[in-house]
This record gives sequence, structure tokens and C-alpha cells, in this order.
Amino acid sequence: MIAFPQTIHFIGSNLPRRTEISIRNLEVEGEIPAEIDGAFFRAVPDNAHAPMFDDDVALNADGMISRFIFENGHVDYDIRYVETERYLAEKQARRALFGRYRNPFTDDPSVAGVDRTVANTTPVWHAGRLFMTKEDGRGYEINPHTLQTVGKWDYYGALKSETFTAHPRVDPVTGELFFFGYEAGGLCSRDIAYGIADANGNLISEQWFEQPYCATIHDFVITQKYAIWPIFPTTADLDRLKAGGAHWAHQQELESWIAIMPRYGKVEEMRWIKGPPGVSAFHEVNAYDDGDLVHIDMCLTDTNAFSFMREAGGIQREQQSLQGAVTRWTIDMSKADPQIEERPLGPPGDLPRLADVDQGRPYNRAWYVSMNPQGGPPMLGGPVGVNFNALVRLEPGNGRVTLMGVPPGAAISEPAHVPADDPTHGGWLMSVVDIPNGPPGQSAPHDYSSELWIVEADNVEKGPIAKVRTGLALRSQVHGSWVSRAKLDQSQVR
Ligand SMILES: [Fe+2]
Repeated sequence: MIAFPQTIHFIGSNLPRRTEISIRNLEVEGEIPAEIDGAFFRAVPDNAHAPMFDDDVALNADGMISRFIFENGHVDYDIRYVETERYLAEKQARRALFGRYRNPFTDDPSVAGVDRTVANTTPVWHAGRLFMTKEDGRGYEINPHTLQTVGKWDYYGALKSETFTAHPRVDPVTGELFFFGYEAGGLCSRDIAYGIADANGNLISEQWFEQPYCATIHDFVITQKYAIWPIFPTTADLDRLKAGGAHWAHQQELESWIAIMPRYGKVEEMRWIKGPPGVSAFHEVNAYDDGDLVHIDMCLTDTNAFSFMREAGGIQREQQSLQGAVTRWTIDMSKADPQIEERPLGPPGDLPRLADVDQGRPYNRAWYVSMNPQGGPPMLGGPVGVNFNALVRLEPGNGRVTLMGVPPGAAISEPAHVPADDPTHGGWLMSVVDIPNGPPGQSAPHDYSSELWIVEADNVEKGPIAKVRTGLALRSQVHGSWVSRAKLDQSQVR
């Protein structure tokens, strides 16, 4: 039998759709401002084949690159598989050959040594090139015009790290891309590679250091002075993998860390600051320098947000019992032994976004998605099994929060920010919203219609100014990126 399991990783908005498609001239309700001109690229995990194991997780699905492309108020839509080595091997065999999430010891022997990454997490644009990234491997370059896969990216042979984060940070003034890879030296290694690519896309620095334990480091942050890795105690173990077990297990009693070094400095200058035990964050919002102080803002929870990572660590917690907040950690770098000062900034949520110009600098607004308990039952699906249903705009300086809900039972994906030409206008957000086709609870969990909503970034409470109807039910995305027409026109790949 070839069938998909009926678990949270394969139902609702996680139902495999597996459709490579192009649609021109989507229906538009409302008016799309003419200066919204460019492409919204999205990373969509979607299994090309039924998994080898019924306990498979959504994070293990093949990457698809999806694009909404805007021109004069018209919108076209495309989605294609990223043709990774893994995807091509399984396509040839017409079945899954790669086993459990990030466990090569569970693979079919025929694919021993074949790159396992699925490139399913973030579309990254830098120096005229588009990459699809996932933290367990190197990025794959994608042709932004055709969505065809160009190939794996190694900075013209210069990159030593075997991995590349799905969350690099681009300095808005220098144009440099700051990145890292963990498990850089191989499976379960404690090696972290820290790299900088210049504005022309050349690797100008790569240094390695070791973390105290092999933790999942999903994101990091830069300021104008520092590069900063918040490290949380979700750890890998080679013996567990060899026994066929989970890559990650959360350790509730183990301490967290901040690793911080001058961003143009040497790894020997790294300072290690111990944080509270058991906490977890997958995404940082931003960080910035404030004299000797460094503020690091993140989506912090009191344990790991993924049930399968908690359970592998023996932690039994219901998803709705998790506590968290968008939280600021402040450290005083003038002290010989800096401590972390913690304070909440905003309601719980995840998938934070900034205006690109605010990266690593003092900022007065950010956006993320959250769960509004008044919004009706959440739609099943997404990486953790239930979707978000509210868009939050937060002013971190004063704690002001405004919110946009979605229809009852609907889901909202991570937004992208589109800057406006007028510096007094805050620009726009765009986000996919999945709306049930019947009353909540009365239609099948995968029966919904996906729309792209366009919202004024500083007036989210007003709701969308335009809705783009796809006529499809799209599978949950992870991250997305807005790329302007000017950047597309300067792409290195034609
Ligand atoms: Fe992420």
C-alpha cells in the first residue's frame, strides 16, 4: 500500500498537495497598489512520495518553491519542486528512499551518501541569486524567473561548512550576508561555521567554533557590532540516531546560552553567557546595540514548541499549555560577567518579520503571527500541527499591539513586508490566509480556499486592502521573502 499517514503532519493544511502548477491572472478583490511590483517567494514543504515511516513529520517533506508575482495590479502564481539530489533519487525510484527526519541510519541502503537535505525552509535572496535553504545542508540555487533548480550553492567552491542556516541576516547598509551552519563538520558535530558573504555574493570569511552541546540553532541575529547565537537545549545524539531514533530531544533541565562576538572579529573573542534552563526559541525578531547594552528580541517559549522534540526528551506537555511571549534579553557587554536581563515585549507568537532596513538596528515595529482564542477553533496543519489565526503588529519600544484576525477557523501564514517608495508610508504586508469552505468544524479539515491578503503594514487592524484568490487549497508554507522588480531585473540567472 502506498498512502500517507493520518497524523497531524499530513492532515488539514498539511495534506500533501504535490501539484506543480502555474496560473496567470489570479482573481483580485480590491485594488493592489501599482508600486507592489516584484515577487513573493515562499518555501512550501510538500511530500513528493508517501513517507517510509508513519511517524514522519512535516519538517521532513520535500521543498517546493512557490511564487506570487505582481505586475501592474496583476498577479500570477507558480509552484515547483526543488530538485534536490534527494528529490531526484526518489523520483527515479518512484518511492521514498530517505527515512526519518534527519536520521540517515533509517534510509534505504541505495541512497547511502546522497545529500539528504530537502531545501524546504526559507527562500533567501542575496547578491542577485535566489536560494532555497534548510539548516541540515547547503542551499540550492533557484532560477527566480522559471523556478527551475540550478544546483547546490558553495560560493564557487569556497564554502567548507556542510550546512547553511535557513536564517541568514543581511545588513541593509553594507549588503553583506551574515550566516552560519551548525553540525558544520558532520552529523551531530558541535562545529558551528560562521560566514560572511559580501554584497557581490563572494565568501569573504568563514570561521569555525564549537558549541557546548549539539543543539538545533535555527536562527541567529546581528547588530552593527556583534554576531549573536542564542542556543537552546534541544540536542542531538549520534547513538540515538544509530538506534533509529529522533534527531532532536529537548532537555528541560539543561541551560541555554548566548554566544556573542564582534561581527567582524575572531571566534577567539566569543563570549559565552549562560541563560535559563529548558527554554526555547526558534526565531529571533531582531537585535541592536544601545551603548554597551545589546538587546536580543525573540519568540521565547518555556519548552520546545514541537511535540515530537519534547516527547523524544520525555516531556509530556499539551500544545496549548505552552507559555511564552515575545521576549527581550538584554546584556551589558561592559561587564566582566554579563547576565541576561529578561522582560516581555508582546503576546506569544512566532514567525516574526521586520522591515529589511531595520535589520540589526534600533526599530519601532515588527510583525508576527499569533493565536487569538476568540478566533474559533484553529485550523489543523503547519509545522507544529495547529495554525496561527492572527497577525500582530508590535511596537517593541512601548509595547503597543495591534491585531488583525481572520475568519473563524481560518489560518494565517508568515507575512512578508513590502516597502513603499514614500518614506512616510509604512509599506504593506502580504500573507496567505486559508479559509474553510464551510462553517468551522463542519467541513473536512483540508477543505479550504487559500487567498493572499495585502494589508497596510502600519494599519493591520483595518484588515486587507486587497485579496488575491488562488482557487486552490495551498499546503502550509514555512518562510517567505519579498523580492522587488529592481532586484529581479538584476538577477545573476536569466
Ligand atoms: Fe525558521
